[in-house]
Amino acid sequence: MARARIVIDRDFTIGEVPRRLFGSFVEHMGRCVYSGIYEPGHPEADEAGFRQDVLKLVRELGATVVRYPGGNFVSGYNWEDGMGPVEQRPRRLDGAWHTVETNVFGLHEFVDWSRQAGVEIMEAINLGTRGVDAARELVEYANHPGGTYLSDLRAANGHKDPFAIKLWCLGNEMDGPWQIGHKTADEYGRLAQEAAKAMRLVDPSLELVACGSSNAHMPTFGAWEQTVLAHTYDQVDYISLHAYYQEEAGDVGSFLASARDMDQFIESVVATADAVRARGKHSKHINLSFDEWNVWYSRPGDADSPEQVGNLGWREHPRVIEDEYNVTDAVVVGTFLNSLLRHGDRVKIANQAQLVNVIAPIRSEAGGPAWRQTIFWPFARMAELATGQILQLTIESDRYTNARFGDTDLVDGAATFNEETGRVVFFLANRSLEEAADVELTLRGLDAVRVTRAEVLRTPAGQDRFTTNNLARGEHVGMTPLRDVTAGGQEVRVSLPALSWSVIEIETRLG
Ligand code: AHR
Repeated sequence: MARARIVIDRDFTIGEVPRRLFGSFVEHMGRCVYSGIYEPGHPEADEAGFRQDVLKLVRELGATVVRYPGGNFVSGYNWEDGMGPVEQRPRRLDGAWHTVETNVFGLHEFVDWSRQAGVEIMEAINLGTRGVDAARELVEYANHPGGTYLSDLRAANGHKDPFAIKLWCLGNEMDGPWQIGHKTADEYGRLAQEAAKAMRLVDPSLELVACGSSNAHMPTFGAWEQTVLAHTYDQVDYISLHAYYQEEAGDVGSFLASARDMDQFIESVVATADAVRARGKHSKHINLSFDEWNVWYSRPGDADSPEQVGNLGWREHPRVIEDEYNVTDAVVVGTFLNSLLRHGDRVKIANQAQLVNVIAPIRSEAGGPAWRQTIFWPFARMAELATGQILQLTIESDRYTNARFGDTDLVDGAATFNEETGRVVFFLANRSLEEAADVELTLRGLDAVRVTRAEVLRTPAGQDRFTTNNLARGEHVGMTPLRDVTAGGQEVRVSLPALSWSVIEIETRLG
């Protein structure tokens, strides 16, 4: 049996839970839009073609903000192509994913869909092939009330009221040589600065995200952030981070510890942003937008890998990276959410990539059903239950060694306290593959009244850690009751099953 001791104090808080941490991402990539969220003629589709079965799962997932329309796609996208009468919209080649984009779905459709989903829009502009003019025109089209050519065109196209989109990404992964219109940090920094200025001249209320590095292992990581922020500091509010992780053959230990890389990535970007702040004598802080994160199995030989899809010629929305997630992936995703929450003082936005079919918590088949992948669950539970204040956590845990990160805590955690409801919620992972973990939780300044929710995601009985939810077998992996929880006074004891992610909600009173 592994052991851990966790202490929280109701007065030691990190900050309010940023609800935008529970963001997601819809890219015109593979089947995320077409036969994902949108499939006219599907038995579950409404008149607009929005799949109601998928929408039901999106609401259950609890996503708060959705980034759109890309991703690599946006760096070659003309926003105007997705406006106006559908039959007049151009079919275009999308070089990013080597597919034919029909443009049947565009921003108007996404706005209508997001209203049904109850999510905020995070709109990305193209700073790959386009620039300042297209950016400011899109803001005028989307947000200006009326009386100008572009805002009246929006009204003529069916939306009299402005879209009122507050949150905008200034391009996507512009540091990556694969990006259409890839730029050096100076080239991008200057362009982002000017685009931001022009966009804010149209709508001063915008919140803007500058592109950080595509991942922490890019050769330019660090220097890129420094240069880009030196150009854009006064014009932007956030710098972006992207990271994807996968289990390498024979090294599950390092995979289970991947959130340590996420912690370090976040802390490095905070340090870099704050160094630019000091150097430039700025008073405001730049916060972080972790606007792409997930587990992603990059196997170039797979039929749905971008490489293979690219070899098959130009097609409309083929299957691309439709990863099927297992129990281990879900536990690792739970630790990513813990990491994001622990850093909620500076990470104010985070988007799991993507929402449907493409490396996604939700899967759907054309003409067929929609279902929840294993990774759906930690996201849904944290989005539902993490409210109020993020608590600082002191963890003393038994450790294990892995190739990439060395000694690592077996038990990983995050916690919140909502003063209005009096509820404390713990989100706990046990990284041990073999042993349950006996965890003692001490609540300083609070007394436990009762346990209101205790659930665990673990390997189902008689199965192994590679178990997935899929079309043929159905949904085997989900949240099940966690029985071994006792609470009294300031002490809560819980036994976490091997390889698991749990949520424990406790009603408390002042102690
Ligand atoms: O989410 C899939 C892709 O990963 C995005 O298009 C890109 O931004 C990232 O490299």
